[in-house]
Amino acid sequence: MSQEDKLKSKIQAGEIVVSGVSKEYGANQFAKEVVKDCSFTIERGKLTVMIGPSGCGKSTLIRLLAGFEHPTAGTISINGKPVTGPARDRLVLFQETALFPWMTTYDNILYGPRARGEVTKETLELAEFLLSKVGLQEFRKKYPTQLSGGMQRRAELARAMINNPEVMILDEPFRGLDAMTKELMWEYYSALYEENRRTNFFVTTDIDEAIFLADRLFIMSNIPTRVRAVLEVDVPRPRRLLDIVENDRSNEIKMEALSILHEEAMKSFSRGSKAAADFVEAYSKRVAKT
Ligand SMILES: Nc1ncnc2c1ncn2[C@@H]1O[C@H](COP(=O)(O)OP(=O)(O)O)[C@@H](O)[C@H]1O
Ligand SMILES: [Mg+2]
Repeated sequence: MSQEDKLKSKIQAGEIVVSGVSKEYGANQFAKEVVKDCSFTIERGKLTVMIGPSGCGKSTLIRLLAGFEHPTAGTISINGKPVTGPARDRLVLFQETALFPWMTTYDNILYGPRARGEVTKETLELAEFLLSKVGLQEFRKKYPTQLSGGMQRRAELARAMINNPEVMILDEPFRGLDAMTKELMWEYYSALYEENRRTNFFVTTDIDEAIFLADRLFIMSNIPTRVRAVLEVDVPRPRRLLDIVENDRSNEIKMEALSILHEEAMKSFSRGSKAAADFVEAYSKRVAKT
């Protein structure tokens, strides 16, 4: 069996169903509703992207999906079973780096299986395969501080994927990288996804990132957040950056997404929110540029 077949055969793609979920922090007059009556399905084997304005409640939703926190109302289930806490079937990759600074790239990647005492010949082969897929074979003996920001992110992707989670959840993982590195990350990450088609849930505020990566795109309302629209990004894979820039269909979807986001921002703008004003400005520039 080839490495790719081995990797594929180990993958079980999970499905997450979120049903009527609300999340409130604080009580009485201090109560703050962050998520309100939110429902969606993260479909098996698809790359679902969630885009919404900064501060709308995306990370809050992720903490609920991960099981770190519990909804005030509604239910979340994975493969039909209720989520009651964190578990290995869901792996969350945050924006902050999770690499251990005292471990080499290679040791970082093998951390999960080693911690569970599950290192087999196959695990080591998988580590090699992932190292090559993220372009870090030459950097296996380097420590995180010796890697560029983009390399660290790629090492983290490999480190997460070796654990074969049923659902990979990524919260703005490429935020803060410079534009070129970020675009390179999109290509690495989507190639990894196309390789194994596990269930991926990717959160971002970047419209180009969203369109490039997504099979399905959730557009979130402002706070308290819920899914405002679901767009199917029916653009063929594998996707390459230059193709997508010139692809009429993806530009059409981008315009549709932007107009919904803009509408959402205008609504909260009229309620006098400063964040919304910044948001309208940022996205108006983008619309004008396109
Ligand atoms: N533990 C908490 N207690 C009170 N408010 C919170 C808590 N966590 C998040 N919030 C509020 O929820 C809102 C959404 O935050 P977050 O989910 O981080 O948004 P996003 O990830 O979309 O930027 C913010 O206004 C934040 O202040
Ligand atoms: Mg966030």
